[in-house]
Amino acid sequence: MDIEKIRYEFPIFSKNSLKETPLIYLDNASTTHKPQRVIDAITDFYSFSYANVGRGSYGLAQEATKRYEAIRLQVSKFIKAKNVNEIVFTSGTTDGINKMAQSFFQAFAKAGDQILISSQAHHSNLLVWEQWATAYQLKVKEIPTHSMGQIDLKALSQLCKNKTVLVAIEAGTNAFGTIQPVSEIVKIAHESGAKVLIDAAQWITYAPTDVEIWDCDFLVFSAHKVFGPTGLGVLYGKSEWLDKMPPMTLGGGGVLRTVPQTVFKESPYKHEAGTPHMAGVLGLGEALDFITDIGFEQITSHANSLLAYALKELRNMEGVEIYQHLHSPALPIVSFGLSGIHPHDVAAYLNESQICLRAGHHCAQPALVTEGLKATLRASFTLYNTKDEIDELIKHLKTAQKFFS
Ligand code: ALA
Repeated sequence: MDIEKIRYEFPIFSKNSLKETPLIYLDNASTTHKPQRVIDAITDFYSFSYANVGRGSYGLAQEATKRYEAIRLQVSKFIKAKNVNEIVFTSGTTDGINKMAQSFFQAFAKAGDQILISSQAHHSNLLVWEQWATAYQLKVKEIPTHSMGQIDLKALSQLCKNKTVLVAIEAGTNAFGTIQPVSEIVKIAHESGAKVLIDAAQWITYAPTDVEIWDCDFLVFSAHKVFGPTGLGVLYGKSEWLDKMPPMTLGGGGVLRTVPQTVFKESPYKHEAGTPHMAGVLGLGEALDFITDIGFEQITSHANSLLAYALKELRNMEGVEIYQHLHSPALPIVSFGLSGIHPHDVAAYLNESQICLRAGHHCAQPALVTEGLKATLRASFTLYNTKDEIDELIKHLKTAQKFFS
């Protein structure tokens, strides 16, 4: 993979490479930068092809609708959905879970049912269940995980037997980068009649997603973590469920008529009321083309080699604590700490050298507390990162240790 060529496609890196101190961006689990072609797809739409979708009969609107729907098809192929109507556009992973939850409970849950989440859950895949469970008199239980992350399948199997209506888990965790055995989890859940929601926010940019192989019932991800725009996400749902679920958003565009009585459109349109993020959808299409042009074979292998290199270099340092599930494949995420120095101090120190790392609980506080931690430093890599950048990180971590000693 020609990393220099790839980096050149990202204005933020070409601009910053002119500076004495180049930008070292290692916070890709939080969000990814955008290649020029994604930015162009968005600005071209606003500049030359802009019109609302799914409404107007004039040419400009028809063309916008055609392009918007073509990306729905592209997304369905990208995640190997059987049917294009299984793709609902949302404003992001969090929005997707929120929308799905409310509609799911109305359609499928009853008082006393149980929802299972992971003890490694991101707050987006935790808070919504807690809130709605109270409203619908449901129980929320955490599935225990092995050290640093993987779901305990025996515990899951036991928990599932108790009126479980939904298992909501992350394909890969954002705090420690643990990859979950999704197919096994889905199989166990289905044996008990529970449905499964996969939060693929961290996974989606790492390796191919195949909802048919996973057999999950729902899946969510955000465009901004796959080199696409913010404010856009995807909710996949099996047609048989989406069709039975009440509209996730109510308003214009989601109905065929309201007089003499309301008749909703078919899904996914009944779930997408309001003017959508059309430019964002076109940007996402370009971002998925960008990924497809490079190919996951190269992307995954590059991510794995960066992770292995970072782990090796960190292990060679004195005074480093690495919080990593060591016995399974992992996302290119390293959570670690420098002994005796607060992660926020280290992150602030690294920032002086334009090295961007996230510090804190990463919106997954229960996951950290489970491991006896309050905060970690987190370096997360993607296709434009290099081993040289990891060397720079290590160099500055060593000077940080001296600075704070
Ligand atoms: N969920 C994002 C992260 O892990 C924002 O940083």
